[in-house]
Amino acid sequence: MKFQVPKGVKEYLPPESAKFELVREKLIAPARFANYQLMETAVFEDTGLFTSGVGESTDVVSKEMYTFTDRADRSLTLRPEGTAGVMRAVIESGLDRGQLPVKVWYSGAFFRAERPQAGRYRQFYQVGVEAIGGDDPLLDVEVISLAVQAFKNLGLQDYEVHINSLGDKPSRESHREALVKFLKEIDLDDATRERAKINPLRVLDDKRPEMITALKDAPVILDYLTQEAKDRYLAVKNGLTNLGIKFIENPKLVRGLDYYTHTTFEFVHHKLGAQSGIGGGGRYDGLMEKLGGQSLSGIGYGIGVDRVLLACEAEGIELSPATQLSLYLVPLGEDARKYAIELLANLRNQGIRCDMAFGERGLKGAMKSGDKSGAKYLAVLGEDEISSGQAEIKHMSDGVVTSVRLTEISDFLK
Ligand code: HAM
Repeated sequence: MKFQVPKGVKEYLPPESAKFELVREKLIAPARFANYQLMETAVFEDTGLFTSGVGESTDVVSKEMYTFTDRADRSLTLRPEGTAGVMRAVIESGLDRGQLPVKVWYSGAFFRAERPQAGRYRQFYQVGVEAIGGDDPLLDVEVISLAVQAFKNLGLQDYEVHINSLGDKPSRESHREALVKFLKEIDLDDATRERAKINPLRVLDDKRPEMITALKDAPVILDYLTQEAKDRYLAVKNGLTNLGIKFIENPKLVRGLDYYTHTTFEFVHHKLGAQSGIGGGGRYDGLMEKLGGQSLSGIGYGIGVDRVLLACEAEGIELSPATQLSLYLVPLGEDARKYAIELLANLRNQGIRCDMAFGERGLKGAMKSGDKSGAKYLAVLGEDEISSGQAEIKHMSDGVVTSVRLTEISDFLK
């Protein structure tokens, strides 16, 4: 019996996995420098966490969740996103009772039952950050700048930062009223009308061309912001400008999840076709309270590692991971093999990447493996080398051979 990877699941295998690893590392690095700490949370959660947290009217919750009942008849769901789980863990652990803001990053697989296509998978990867318990607009600036820094470190250029404000509660209430009125006057299919009842804002998220046309003149929230929300939004925009971050104001940006308030943003890449969102996020006042915690605000983003990798490839960015092997050993005979495995352990301890030909292979086959390994140097270890304590080390790219004492190999390689 042969099996295949489930439909829509993107896997990363060698040698391509090295590129994925590099992209993921570069996406995480700026968060580490900014004092964000790792958070590993549950990959599956109580289904209710997502229905309450992310919102029942969203596509993610209504159509895309992988939900199952466990042996004790509990309804569980594979996490479709990271924010709700982080919030649940912060509340549960009481981290929000300590130093604020709680600044965390995470990286891992997320699951959505979407129709698979290039850049859209059922198991995909995000690197995310969340800063919880601070409503300083400069925190919004910091969060956006971390993503921009990561893109810069990768060399990405062909993308835009889109931002919008969804305001505070009073802003959203007056906008909602105007939107409901507007939606009443246009022709909507039953499903959309249902959705509008739960959350009219969701209708603005409809990507069907006929809907985009029908919603062209829909009231946008920016026109309904309270003075306080406007001031806050302005502070964020000024902060971004001061950091030299270019952005585009997109008053139609509503995002696909229900918890957003105030600043929302998306990173849109030009060379990815339909799946152009390489990341997005925003502020979420009220989420923590909704999930049974205290009333603290937060802001964060999720960046799609798969899509950033595709974006790098589309821009022709060379992703050369620093994973070249330093040394490849070809041991001949049992004594040499035993000697080699010890030598490797010793070198690896000193931070040198090295490998050897395993198994009783002939010299020719072993040399071929050495060639394929991409190692910088290769050394054959036979009886002579071990008794004399000296080996010939070949520099693979130009064939230059140097005689090195076995006890001094690490100095030579360094
Ligand atoms: P999201 O916009 O749903 O936000 O997802 C973030 C990113 O994940 C997207 O921009 C995209 O790059 C990637 N992504 C989403 N779905 C897929 C898929 N099916 N295949 C490949 N990539 C995908 C969130 O998840 C929020 N939790 C972000 C956030 C954090 N907001 C505040 N804090």
